[in-house]
Amino acid sequence: MLGRVVVGRERISSVVARLAEELESDLEGRSPVFIGVLKGCVYFFTDLTMSIKTPVEVDFIQVSSYGASTTSSGTVVLVKDITVDVRDRDVYLVEDIVDTGSTLADILHLIRARHPRSVQIVALLSKPSRREIEIEVDFLGFEIDDLFVVGYGLDFAEQYRNLPDIHEYLPDREPPV
Ligand code: IMP
Repeated sequence: MLGRVVVGRERISSVVARLAEELESDLEGRSPVFIGVLKGCVYFFTDLTMSIKTPVEVDFIQVSSYGASTTSSGTVVLVKDITVDVRDRDVYLVEDIVDTGSTLADILHLIRARHPRSVQIVALLSKPSRREIEIEVDFLGFEIDDLFVVGYGLDFAEQYRNLPDIHEYLPDREPPV
């Protein structure tokens, strides 16, 4: 069941603008490739990269996610690989939300094996209380409590991605027997 708005449109826009500014000053002298982690990143990724004036290359990677559950299965499978050669490039990995950290840990492993010059992480949301693997987020939008959220790209069972605000999602209760 869709719950209250956790982060509204206006706050999302101002955070995207702040992150774009931080990134802009980091880009000087670099050879940037922005890699979005599909599908949750799409709205954040397009808003963010369009707010950056420096030309950047873009690409996408997709790994398996939660399916129709609100907890991670802990198994990450590569669904779509990048097509850009990242050797000696400065990679910015753009993720919607960092939860346990296992998805990003696996993706980092994969990207680092292709010898980029640097890899930095950009995430809109982070749930630090849920972290199981230490991940350093270089550019972070918001920290949130241990809530399951949907909207602005985030889904529950592929639903709710196109909501303009970020809402809490409350699992339906089993009916009493
Ligand atoms: P992690 O591997 O546990 O860090 O999970 C990261 C991925 O799980 C994210 O890219 C999302 O696809 C998904 N995820 C984690 N928390 C949420 C949430 O609250 N709402 C929707 N998807 C989530």
